[in-house]
Amino acid sequence: MPKNRSRTILNDPSELHYELRSFFEFNRFTGTEERHFADLRIAVYENEFWTSKQRDGHSLHEVSYRACYKPQLPGFFIERFCDTDDVVYDPFMGRGTTLIEAQLRGCRAIGNDANPLSSVLAAPRLNPPTIQMVEQRLKEVRLSLPKKIDADLLVFFSPETLDELYGWRSYFRNRKRKGLFDKVDAWIQMVACNRLTGHSKGFFSVYTLPPNQATSLEAQRRINEKRKQVPKYRDTKALILKKTKQLLRHTLPPKYGREDFDLVCESADSTHSIPADSVKLVVTSPPFLDTVDYVGDNWLRMWFCDVKIDPKRIWQIKSLEDWVARMTDVFRELKRVLQPGGIVAFEVGEVRNGVLLLENEVVKAGFEAGLVPECIMINSQNFTKTANCWGVSNNKKGTNSNRIVILKKQG
Ligand SMILES: C[S@@+](CC[C@H](N)C(=O)[O-])C[C@H]1O[C@@H](n2cnc3c(N)ncnc32)[C@H](O)[C@@H]1O
Repeated sequence: MPKNRSRTILNDPSELHYELRSFFEFNRFTGTEERHFADLRIAVYENEFWTSKQRDGHSLHEVSYRACYKPQLPGFFIERFCDTDDVVYDPFMGRGTTLIEAQLRGCRAIGNDANPLSSVLAAPRLNPPTIQMVEQRLKEVRLSLPKKIDADLLVFFSPETLDELYGWRSYFRNRKRKGLFDKVDAWIQMVACNRLTGHSKGFFSVYTLPPNQATSLEAQRRINEKRKQVPKYRDTKALILKKTKQLLRHTLPPKYGREDFDLVCESADSTHSIPADSVKLVVTSPPFLDTVDYVGDNWLRMWFCDVKIDPKRIWQIKSLEDWVARMTDVFRELKRVLQPGGIVAFEVGEVRNGVLLLENEVVKAGFEAGLVPECIMINSQNFTKTANCWGVSNNKKGTNSNRIVILKKQG
């Protein structure tokens, strides 16, 4: 949960330099260097600014999502730069980590993701029902039997469990059609979507790859053969209630369940519905080139939630040049939505085995778009939990440190 750090709100990212240089919260001194970009000199600070040794995040974060970051990352910046009711925005919100951290600190959250699945995951956790409301609804719902099923899915689920999943799908569809789909239904859908596949009895499926990496049918057939396993019945209502209790086990600040959050489903470079000059702080992490297949990894969740998307809308960009061009467009859009003096914390991971320093490209793209790069922070730590969260093993292809470029819109 966010800890109660006595808050001194920084007026400008330039005030961050001293704090980063003298940071010693986890008993390490900050390493510093300077990088040069044509006429620009940018300070780089490396330390363990947030760590797996810190208390876990709020229980509401505990839904898996490919390439999610630890809540401590957005928490670090929100705590330092935002006051109550300031607007915090994430243009690539994924499971909504930034948004939850913003609301936990009394800020107003705006999120965007080109995949509508993100809103399915984030909205219910920004305005959650009580456990009692969920329990009552689970008692009331009668799940209908499907007329037809896709037998391929029996590779994950027992026939009875699969019937229930079809029952849930038609329940949600009917509620939407009748205009009755409410926050309790949305919560149940979000929890069920997160219980589809995984490697314990808490999931609806037989043992699979971690839940944020929905395996293909063929790969799952091979896993089943290798482990000599057959899917067993899982009581979907019981598992939804169990996970609900886990997600809601931490207390929430009194004004947490506010209704003024805004979720958008556009490409991050053209989010016209977000007003100009409205955002105080952006904390985000974009797709890193082509390292993650967000559509392929989420196919089963998207099936369950009836979410359809043109895969071309989700960026998986091979060429660095194209990636930089897209990010420059994103920064132009961020410059539009930021208040004068507003701040961006833009996180990229280590890619291509650390040979390519993506953060340098971010500095250049931000500058090109008219923002002022302030510094680069590198959060390095002994990875255990986060490596799991990223779905990559440490020191192999993928990400094992967070690199954050801090930029501002000139006041
Ligand atoms: C690295 S993930 C963000 C994860 C997020 N920080 C979290 O903690 O869950 C990048 C996200 O960008 C989204 N995305 C990909 N292309 C996009 C685009 N053109 N515009 C907006 N979002 C996009 C993906 O769907 C994915 O959710």
